[in-house]
Amino acid sequence: MCGIIGYIGKDKALPVLLDGLRRMEYRGYDSAGVALLDEGKTTVVKRQGKIVNLAVALKEHPPAGHLGIGHTRWATHGVPNELNAHPHQAGRITIVHNGIIENYAELKAELKAKHHRTFLSDTDTEVLAHLIAVERDTTKSLEAAVLAALLQVEGTFGVLVLDDQEPGKLVAARRGSPLLLGISADAIYLASDATAVIGHTDRVVYLDDDEIAVCTPGKYDIIDFEAQARQHEEHKIELELGAIEKAGYDHFLLKEIMEQPRTIADILRGRLDLEAGTSRLGGLSDPQIYHDITRFLTIGCGTAYYAGLLGQYLLERLTGLPVDIEFASEFRYREPIVDGRALGLIITQSGETADTLASLRELKRRDIRTFGLVNVIGSSVAREVDGGMYLHAGPEISVASTKAFTAQVIGHLLVGLQIGRGRQLPITEGQAVVKALQALPAQVQSILDQRVHIQKLAKKFARHKNVMYLGRDTLYPVALEAALKLKEISYIHAEAYASGEMKHGPVALIDPDLLVIFFNPKNSLYDKTRSNLEEVRARGGRLLLVGTEGDESLKAFSEDIIYIPDSSPYTQPILANIPMQLFAYYVAVERGTDVDQPRNLAKSVTVE
Ligand code: AGP
Repeated sequence: MCGIIGYIGKDKALPVLLDGLRRMEYRGYDSAGVALLDEGKTTVVKRQGKIVNLAVALKEHPPAGHLGIGHTRWATHGVPNELNAHPHQAGRITIVHNGIIENYAELKAELKAKHHRTFLSDTDTEVLAHLIAVERDTTKSLEAAVLAALLQVEGTFGVLVLDDQEPGKLVAARRGSPLLLGISADAIYLASDATAVIGHTDRVVYLDDDEIAVCTPGKYDIIDFEAQARQHEEHKIELELGAIEKAGYDHFLLKEIMEQPRTIADILRGRLDLEAGTSRLGGLSDPQIYHDITRFLTIGCGTAYYAGLLGQYLLERLTGLPVDIEFASEFRYREPIVDGRALGLIITQSGETADTLASLRELKRRDIRTFGLVNVIGSSVAREVDGGMYLHAGPEISVASTKAFTAQVIGHLLVGLQIGRGRQLPITEGQAVVKALQALPAQVQSILDQRVHIQKLAKKFARHKNVMYLGRDTLYPVALEAALKLKEISYIHAEAYASGEMKHGPVALIDPDLLVIFFNPKNSLYDKTRSNLEEVRARGGRLLLVGTEGDESLKAFSEDIIYIPDSSPYTQPILANIPMQLFAYYVAVERGTDVDQPRNLAKSVTVE
């Protein structure tokens, strides 16, 4: 949820910290702060609001020093104000923290009663700072104090710690919140994700849970919570700076929508076999899987969940196996009935969503085989699943997920093809799906070429207070995802229903003030869906339609129509979602909201 950054090396720390925070601002942007340790004194500067406020505060008197930490916050404990902003200090100790200390209240009470500690903020993080400070009084090193403190903590943390009296050292620790080390010849960078270190180094090491890194300029040691030394292999990050810049677009969101023809080609590259009518996923190469499993169990949150819901329709048709799907936040506490013959599909862009990661660990505890559809390389989910595939959609910086959703759905088609063809899917059907996937980039581009038309529609409907999306079969999960996109970036109240459900209650909402966005493309349920459309029109609903190119009959219902190319039923929902991404984007722009960093949101929900 928050972004944390640390630097220890030969250069000035402040520019590295600010640059890293700017790149991770999408992880949370309620407040931001830095701490620099120089000549035995730590200077802390923090501000409410976005990083630009912090940069302005630092301009006049930039703190010196070659060692520092920084934080951009998504508030969990304590309102987003300057007092609750990180870094937090307790005497000689200064920390930044991403996560939740679940037993902070008991720890706080004990620190007050036994150690007469006083607190300035309402945060759990400040409690951790005092806990480390208390332990530091009786331990020989900062890392020993951090370990002693963290052994008392319940909850999650990615934490960076400075000690005024150990100016050549930066200590980091993680449990449940991502933390990586960037390594160069004369500096160590610590960050929540790789976007913060691009351009400084391409050498990274990922900390595992319950590990501590002790960093000095250009050197690091890792120990576990039994104080045993740990070794990790270095990974090379392939990302270029361009991947995390707007490249001339007004917003990351528009860039990420517009680059989908390329990202679709990227996820498909080397994974399609037209001749055999199948896909080639390394993580599913053991043919035994195709016959061992009796069902899928899909887990995800938000947009990833909706990709899984759409994937349920696609997988069942391709493999003949039942698919159960659960919100990760429900699954982990539901005491689900799961047997070992299920394949757990873990859907996540960031690979760090706390509920999704916890659900993965619950499945592994029950000895359920897991397969991840993950975008962020080296993320926790990517490293903990039994097998998986990277979505290759590139960094998704905008908080609202678009290209990752498309990639997640395509991932389901690739999984369905490989397992389906290993079971009963006929080669001709497999080849048809492969051809449909190969046609996707150009078809998506043809929809993106309609963005001026879609922008006009967005301007026309941007003032509606309520919007309802209606879709049937594979267009129902698309309706849910489209409604989420509009909600989260334009703040308009939007709902979605299976269009056959309208007459069971929601039809009462139909009136001229309600915009109804209705999917009625040519498919096997076209006529059935048309009667649902009639129900809406008969009650005077305001209609925006999504239909198949050439279907003139739609004009009898509304003048406001977005056409998509005719396509396979397997790829039609992917195409139908593209104009909805653009529509939500242009409505948000028209309404002047913060498109890339909408209020109250963060890109990766790494807390419960
Ligand atoms: C999507 O637009 C939202 N930002 C959110 O629902 C997101 O999809 C969800 O938090 C899951 O994130 P993940 O894919 O990184 O696990």
